[in-house]
Amino acid sequence: MAEQQDNILDRYTPGARVNHWINAMLMICLALSGMSLFHPSLFFLSDLFGGGVWTRIIHPWMGVLAILSFLGLFIRFWRFNLWTADDTAWIKSVRHVVAGDEAKVPEAGKYNAGQKLVFWLMSMLTILLLMSGLAMWDSQLGHLTSIEQKRLAAVVHALSAVVLIAVVIVHIYAAIWIRGTIRGMTRGSVTGGWAWRHHRKWLREEVGKAK
Ligand code: HEM
Repeated sequence: MAEQQDNILDRYTPGARVNHWINAMLMICLALSGMSLFHPSLFFLSDLFGGGVWTRIIHPWMGVLAILSFLGLFIRFWRFNLWTADDTAWIKSVRHVVAGDEAKVPEAGKYNAGQKLVFWLMSMLTILLLMSGLAMWDSQLGHLTSIEQKRLAAVVHALSAVVLIAVVIVHIYAAIWIRGTIRGMTRGSVTGGWAWRHHRKWLREEVGKAK
């Protein structure tokens, strides 16, 4: 609900923020531990998790926790990420966004088309990582899959991880690049000016609700 005092709007509840940051920390730990298992040149990263053996043991368990926390984010946010005709128009004029001239693109709702693409990519890649990870989890589920399936799973797991890491880097870059966005996920609120500039349709809806 929109708060009218001081031109500030609520964007994320404390629950959503805690959920997001737990997920972000788990995903970063998964990326670091996963990279240490991926290639010998990155093995030194396993020191962060207590050495190679511990890294191999805890990586899948962190994966299970990350899936659960991502599920929490998915349940909270999927409906705001449904694709609309405005999103297609937004994507077609994305060059104006990159040039810092958002006045020339259709007004965005709670999320713009770029954020929605990131959201659905994160969701699909997370599912691929879960399925391929479970297929390779020998200590718990090894008897359920054949050697050939485990080999295929290893390729799918590594490829999905590379793409997800790239998507997360884009997500972090965009959050920093659009000034005033990070405070939404730290303090839970954004300024009216930020909403007017980047998510005008959402601002109109929130002001309408407040009236
Ligand atoms: C240090 C790392 C991260 C930073 C700084 C960051 C920052 C942010 C910020 C500022 C928002 C709010 C955007 C807005 O209100 O417009 C957000 C939303 C979100 N973030 Fe992150 N994030 C990080 C890592 C992650 C990771 C690793 C994931 C999952 C793989 C993730 C998933 C999400 C999701 C699902 C949303 C809701 C946006 C939507 O539904 O489209 N974030 N993040």
